[in-house]
Amino acid sequence: MGLELTGRARYLPLFMCGIVAYIGKKEAQPLLLDGLRRLEYRGYDSSGLAILNGSLHVSKKVGRISNLEECLSGAPLSGTIGISHTRWATHGEPNDTNAHPHLDNRKKLALVHNGVVENYQALKRKLVAAGHTFESETDTEILAHLVGSMYDSLPASTPHRLETALKLALKQVQGTYGVAVVHADEPDVLVGARRGSPLVLGIGQDEHFLASDVSAIVAHTQKVVYLKDFDLITLTGNSFTIKSITDKPSEFQISEVDYRTEDAELGSFPHFMLKEIFEQPTSIQNAVRGRLNAEEASAVLGGLNMSPQELREVERIVITACGTALHAGIVGEHIIESLAHIPVEIDFASEFRYRNCPMDRRTLVIVVSQSGETADTLGALREARRRGYRVLGICNNVGSTIARETDGGVYMHAGPEIGVAATKSFTSQVTIFALLGLLLGRMRFLSFTQGSEFIKGLEALPDQITKLLKQADKIRAIADKYKSVKSMLYFGRNVQYGVAMEGALKMKEISYIHAEGYPAAELKHGVIAMIDHHTPSIFIVPNDSLRNKNISTMQEVKARKGPIIAIATEGDEDVAAIADDTIFVPAAHECLLPILAVVPLQLFSYYTAVLLNRDVDKPRNLAKSVTVE
Ligand code: AGP
Ligand code: GLU
Repeated sequence: MGLELTGRARYLPLFMCGIVAYIGKKEAQPLLLDGLRRLEYRGYDSSGLAILNGSLHVSKKVGRISNLEECLSGAPLSGTIGISHTRWATHGEPNDTNAHPHLDNRKKLALVHNGVVENYQALKRKLVAAGHTFESETDTEILAHLVGSMYDSLPASTPHRLETALKLALKQVQGTYGVAVVHADEPDVLVGARRGSPLVLGIGQDEHFLASDVSAIVAHTQKVVYLKDFDLITLTGNSFTIKSITDKPSEFQISEVDYRTEDAELGSFPHFMLKEIFEQPTSIQNAVRGRLNAEEASAVLGGLNMSPQELREVERIVITACGTALHAGIVGEHIIESLAHIPVEIDFASEFRYRNCPMDRRTLVIVVSQSGETADTLGALREARRRGYRVLGICNNVGSTIARETDGGVYMHAGPEIGVAATKSFTSQVTIFALLGLLLGRMRFLSFTQGSEFIKGLEALPDQITKLLKQADKIRAIADKYKSVKSMLYFGRNVQYGVAMEGALKMKEISYIHAEGYPAAELKHGVIAMIDHHTPSIFIVPNDSLRNKNISTMQEVKARKGPIIAIATEGDEDVAAIADDTIFVPAAHECLLPILAVVPLQLFSYYTAVLLNRDVDKPRNLAKSVTVE
């Protein structure tokens, strides 16, 4: 079950808001702060930590980790057991009080939490009736009180008292959680549990770490256990036990994480987003590596766990995902339909999971997720599997929940994506759809010659992107020209429609300029009312079968004095003559063009955001991976 893992697990970080906890012999505070810094791009409303040293010492601060560091710099907290958190607020505004850790009623227990306690109001009513008073507006504080009151209600002689208290409390909780807990009366124990929000155990020499993301701890140990939903973990400095909240036996596997520090560091780049845009020649090469078979003019995707017969029997495909991954799916829909003639449907994971979508027995479901932890995508995956469908995954994060729960799939091998705005994951996902289209196509309608041509196209992509990236300065100049506009429209047809959607999402996410993507012909059905000389239209108009149709739509914009930025095929002077600014991309197979066309749009949004002084890697309100519904 799950995506095939070959060799050592490649280190890939993930997740929104973060948890880092430590128990061992070293001073905990510097280790926790270092871990939080590595997680900061996933949640940065506020942060805090609690150190256990005879009693509990807590410090928490709204804003970036640097605020917390500053706060602690005068009076560091000493102790060798601690929990810490960087928050992405769901319940209660980001402020010092709502920041984690939260304490129980007796101020003896500290708890950090990722996720959402859905029945927190009902639980709160019971606790208030029992005399509890609350300081924050968070659902998390209720959880802290609940675990604390369970602890207090258990006889002091109860074996594993804190673990038992956590288990009993979580049995009452509806929702999602990754939690870490310490208690002043249990000076040598740290407990944790997960459901829906990821947690990973790091095993060191006489020390243990618990974190929501392996990147927080991997500098200290590469021996990890990815916890599963309902796992309940108890740590001391030199031992750990993993049980289940459900009382069923829990199995676990120790993995070795392959860590390269430079993967998660900026190097000479000012932002992770730019670094990741420039990594695309390599990340695409990694997506393709070992997956082409020139002799059969086809692709080799062993991790699908499906026989050629089973693949041939697929009569319909449903792709489901969120955000950028969904846009890659929109492109994938066109690629598979065009190369393999299999009907493909695309749906928002958040809709699919609750929609009563009638599906035939021979439908294959594909979920796409960079992090492999997005709650909506995971919900869609579970719903599809519950109904008995085969579900494949396209994931980047090895060992993630989605990767583990799918029947098979394809890893992106893109390396860590740290910029909150996804870039290289999009091009890797589309590349994998191209491989899938080639494989399914060669079983159906694609000839050997067509397959071979397509392979050549795939192999050419890294060099073509390297060449494209040389236009960065020109794209920056175009961004400078348009950076003050209020709104932008992105247009593309068929396979380029997903690129238009993705270009617009990138612009919104990091520059906060309003932007929408449309299929180009939709212009005349309403969007045209938006066109004026202050509203640029970005046309993705390569030299494909719909070029002339796109040119007509461009003329309609031009006639209404709308500025046009065109993404056109090298040498297409007709398009350049209509557009105000043109960025040329190399010629390629129609199904591979999106991989090229999106790169200038990524750079365009990046430079616009930089020129507007936006925080590119930590855009407001966003988190890298949304592990709540
Ligand atoms: C991309 O720029 C976004 N931050 C977001 O839309 C993201 O693509 C989406 O949340 C899905 O994430 P996933 O690929 O990790 O599932
Ligand atoms: N729901 C909790 C809160 O709003 C946890 C949020 C998080 O996962 O950071 O505080």
